[in-house]
Amino acid sequence: MEKMGLNSNILKTLFVVCCIVFPFALTATLKFRNSSITFFEGFSENKVLGGETSQKNVTTRGSVQNITHENSEVLQGEIQNDRDPIEERTTSRNNTTPEIGSKNAPLISSSNSSSSDSIHDDQEKLLDGLLAFGFDEASCISRLQSHLYRKVSPHKPSRYLILKLRNYEELHRRCGPDSIAYNKSMAYIEHPKDNNGDGTMCKYLVWSPANGLGNRIISMAATFLYAILTDRVLLVRFGEDMHSLFCEPFLNSTWMLPTNSPLWNQEHVETYDSFLEKDKANNSKHDLPSALFLNHQFTKENPEKFFHCGHNQDLLRNVPLLISQTDQYFVPSLFMIPSFNLEINKMFPQKDTVFYHLAHYLYHPSNEAWRLITTFYPTYLAKVDERIGIQIRVFRPDITSNQAIMDLVLSCTIENKLLPKLDTQNSVSYSQNHTIKAVLVTSLSPNYGENLRAMYENKQSISGEVIEVYQPSHEEKQKFGDNMHNMKAWTEMYLLSLSDVLVTSSLSTFGYVAQGMGGLKPWILVKPHKKKPNSASCKQDFSSEPCFHYPPMHECNGKFQKHFSSSFPHLWECKDRHSGLKLVSEQRSVVSRPVTANKNMYKI
Ligand SMILES: *[C@@H]1O[C@H](CO)[C@@H](O)[C@H](O)[C@H]1NC(C)=O
Ligand SMILES: *[C@@H]1O[C@H](CO)[C@@H](O)[C@H](O)[C@H]1NC(C)=O
Ligand SMILES: *[C@@H]1O[C@H](CO)[C@@H](O)[C@H](O)[C@H]1NC(C)=O
Ligand SMILES: *[C@@H]1O[C@H](CO)[C@@H](O)[C@H](O)[C@H]1NC(C)=O
Ligand SMILES: *[C@@H]1O[C@H](CO)[C@@H](O)[C@H](O)[C@H]1NC(C)=O
Ligand SMILES: *[C@@H]1O[C@H](CO)[C@@H](O)[C@H](O)[C@H]1NC(C)=O
Repeated sequence: MEKMGLNSNILKTLFVVCCIVFPFALTATLKFRNSSITFFEGFSENKVLGGETSQKNVTTRGSVQNITHENSEVLQGEIQNDRDPIEERTTSRNNTTPEIGSKNAPLISSSNSSSSDSIHDDQEKLLDGLLAFGFDEASCISRLQSHLYRKVSPHKPSRYLILKLRNYEELHRRCGPDSIAYNKSMAYIEHPKDNNGDGTMCKYLVWSPANGLGNRIISMAATFLYAILTDRVLLVRFGEDMHSLFCEPFLNSTWMLPTNSPLWNQEHVETYDSFLEKDKANNSKHDLPSALFLNHQFTKENPEKFFHCGHNQDLLRNVPLLISQTDQYFVPSLFMIPSFNLEINKMFPQKDTVFYHLAHYLYHPSNEAWRLITTFYPTYLAKVDERIGIQIRVFRPDITSNQAIMDLVLSCTIENKLLPKLDTQNSVSYSQNHTIKAVLVTSLSPNYGENLRAMYENKQSISGEVIEVYQPSHEEKQKFGDNMHNMKAWTEMYLLSLSDVLVTSSLSTFGYVAQGMGGLKPWILVKPHKKKPNSASCKQDFSSEPCFHYPPMHECNGKFQKHFSSSFPHLWECKDRHSGLKLVSEQRSVVSRPVTANKNMYKI
């Protein structure tokens, strides 16, 4: 348990109404320091007591579980979070209605608009047609407001993607929970012997979580795309720790697997691995199960699953229900499957926007999460000239010192002119430069934000720019099974995605979500323990897509394939993991082999 201090200068809470609906309210508590500088205590889980808005009982709950992989380089789950005092430049605020809009962030549009404007507004609200029309606004405020917080998107969804989404929504309404078709199909899936599957059968894909929130968000997006490509209905198995992070994404239906479904337990469900064994042993027809469990957690130990092969996709096609447990962004595999190739290319003519569009379609912060985001953003980030997100994730704390990380961050940001140098001589007096840059630091540890802030607070920058540093939270350890921890992680990923410039840590899926949602090509910090004295501290990525850490290693005929990037012009090796694959928009300048020359890849 942790108590957070409250101070005299508390913002008037705006959540009187909201607090009735949501148990936790975020309040930005401001502390005075040096009389003119205020500090932000970060995301806190506050309960506003009856009547008195200024009286709060602050509790932080959460069972802390250590991360199991701190010492390994395996790219496993991660959640990350931080909280830290936050500096603010203006004096106390009174923002019961935080206004948005900075010198370069779009303003909240006024309600006063002509009819052609309102069509335009609707178009913007619905993200150029990506979102369906007809959602109830109050139950998910972020869905129709998120566009106000982002620059006008250069990435438009293709008409074909929009068509596929509308078709998918129809399928989901017809076959989703609470439909007659759902009951019928599930009755067959549970007892295939007693029931006849008829023409109205629906097919399902149940996503099951693995690892931290970053892994979950990227893998869910990949799973959704797989569902669209295979005409399956996506259902999600959210535990307690995933509740109330996101809005329902599908109009007039739910994506939650009903709590009474036997599919919460996959013990009796045949596994994909044993299914493949059977298939291999028996060339003639074998019995098709009604459900299969795909343990798709690609790890070093896991053998090749040949999921990217047409033959296996043909087998899976007729299995009515798949439970998929994966922590990976396996979209590159979907691009390799010949039967999907045409569709997926039509849906995403611009290959490096797959996650961007899928995430903007699927992940709308719940009202609770949105309140955290829209309290923080206008107060600290909206009214500055540039927002710089720095996401620090230390995978090897055993061999990495804080100082090494700090040095890495500074040399990366200063060498690449993301942040100005400090005037260490203190000699010249600089004319006031009215440029303000806000740095949003996210990390499990408070040190980095504190150090950075102290630096820029005590010394003038040579450019005369003003650098403000904010770190909303620090959780010390990644936690699993903790809803509030995930809530903070989600809001921080989202806030980072609103940056103009992003610095991320190698291999971090937390950073992948931020860069992917923001459509940002981040500066990736090298692994600190791999840094050589004169090598670069960070490199700019060439795509905002998440990296698929464990792509296939074999062609479909079983032949070892060192790297699939040689066969697919839109798949490159990741900057932060050479054996990983990621989507890029442009083709390689030197295409080593045309894809068609590789037909035998798809044969077993
Ligand atoms: C807060 O808002 C009220 C009403 O708009 C105003 O009277 C008051 O001066 C404001 N307080 C501060 C600190 O800006
Ligand atoms: C709409 O805008 C016009 C001018 O742009 C202004 O005169 C009018 O008062 C506005 N109406 C409302 C309802 O804000
Ligand atoms: C589906 O079955 C459940 C009970 O298993 C029942 O409560 C529900 O009303 C059924 N839904 C429809 C649309 O038939
Ligand atoms: C969604 O539900 C609302 C309310 O029941 C209904 O008016 C609307 O037509 C539905 N939309 C679709 C696309 O089914
Ligand atoms: C091979 O297929 C037949 C049915 O065609 C089945 O009876 C037999 O059990 C299968 N063998 C294996 C090893 O799965
Ligand atoms: C402030 O400094 C930045 C970076 O050196 C520069 O681009 C900008 O033009 C300066 N602005 C003013 C008002 O001097």
